[in-house]
Amino acid sequence: SNNRTSFTSVKALTESPQLTSLPPSYTYTTNSDDEIVTDPDEDDPIPVIDYSLLVSGTPDQRAKIIQDLSKACEEWGFFMLINYFVSKSIMEKMVDEVFAFFNLREEEKQEFAGKDVMDPIRYGTSSNVSMDKVLFWRDFLKIVVHPQFHSPDKPPGFREALAEYSRRTWKVGKELLKGISESLGLEANYIEDTMNLDSGLQMIAANLYPPCPQPELAMGIPPHSDHGLLNLLMQNGVSGLQVLHNGKWINVSSTTNCLLVFVSDHLEVVSNGKYKSVMHRAVVSNKATRMSLAIVIAPSMETVVEPAEELLDNQSNPAAYIGMKHRDYMQLQGSNRLNGKSVLDKVK
Ligand code: SIN
Ligand code: FE2
Repeated sequence: SNNRTSFTSVKALTESPQLTSLPPSYTYTTNSDDEIVTDPDEDDPIPVIDYSLLVSGTPDQRAKIIQDLSKACEEWGFFMLINYFVSKSIMEKMVDEVFAFFNLREEEKQEFAGKDVMDPIRYGTSSNVSMDKVLFWRDFLKIVVHPQFHSPDKPPGFREALAEYSRRTWKVGKELLKGISESLGLEANYIEDTMNLDSGLQMIAANLYPPCPQPELAMGIPPHSDHGLLNLLMQNGVSGLQVLHNGKWINVSSTTNCLLVFVSDHLEVVSNGKYKSVMHRAVVSNKATRMSLAIVIAPSMETVVEPAEELLDNQSNPAAYIGMKHRDYMQLQGSNRLNGKSVLDKVK
């Protein structure tokens, strides 16, 4: 049964020679006609955080970065991380192996086709095919790499590249969460300890957006926020990501020399809403294949995620979210259509 294709990937679709227009099942209509899409304003640029100053700066430099982190997480829920000690060659190797995976024969990839959000390795298309009313112009590969490391056994170099990239980015995520804990006025280890990051969930999601014949009619991934604490994203130099900021969709540049960091749902909960899980989406183009690779840093599956008690005050700052076990949160996400802050709204 392994040679049976269970879904049509976007990549396979685009390789069929007749494809000159968008198949109707992919036609996406935005919710609002009056939405604004724009490049960042010169007076309000996307925040840039220098990781090297966080981990090896002077105490003054670190204090300044922690202030900057606070501002970025509060005002944008998003920032660009530079100087993060993951070498260009490790990044490039990972990008190459992800492309090599998507370039496998369809039958080989479909061995990893999975249905359940809890599957440790899952190759798929769109977002949630059984729930999506329209299909999205995206194929994906999701892999759990912590607390237990998983990897597809092909292409040949994939496992090694993934192991290295996962290990490096886990460290970056943990250091960022130390700074972010401090930025909330908590102990540096607060989030790491209370979210049980020793057995925390780290997941990669590799996204492939092949060239689309009618890009203005399709959507790569619709507006949503991410589960987990942080998402560290890299991309292959093709643009498409937009983040929602002050009611406008801001185009994020296609730069490859930084990690794009998203505040995610569980960090919004822990901060009791001070930091906002950023809404984002990916549009597609007819020019080039876009690839992005997300690293989700999340609490252990058994952790009940709730607002940090230290931040609460019965009068002035009561808990704005109910506690929910991460496993239940994931399950809910898997049974909902991706649209807005759909699962986060259930714990408010
Ligand atoms: C995502 O939201 O998971 C993907 C965003 C992107 O491809 O830039
Ligand atoms: Fe996302």
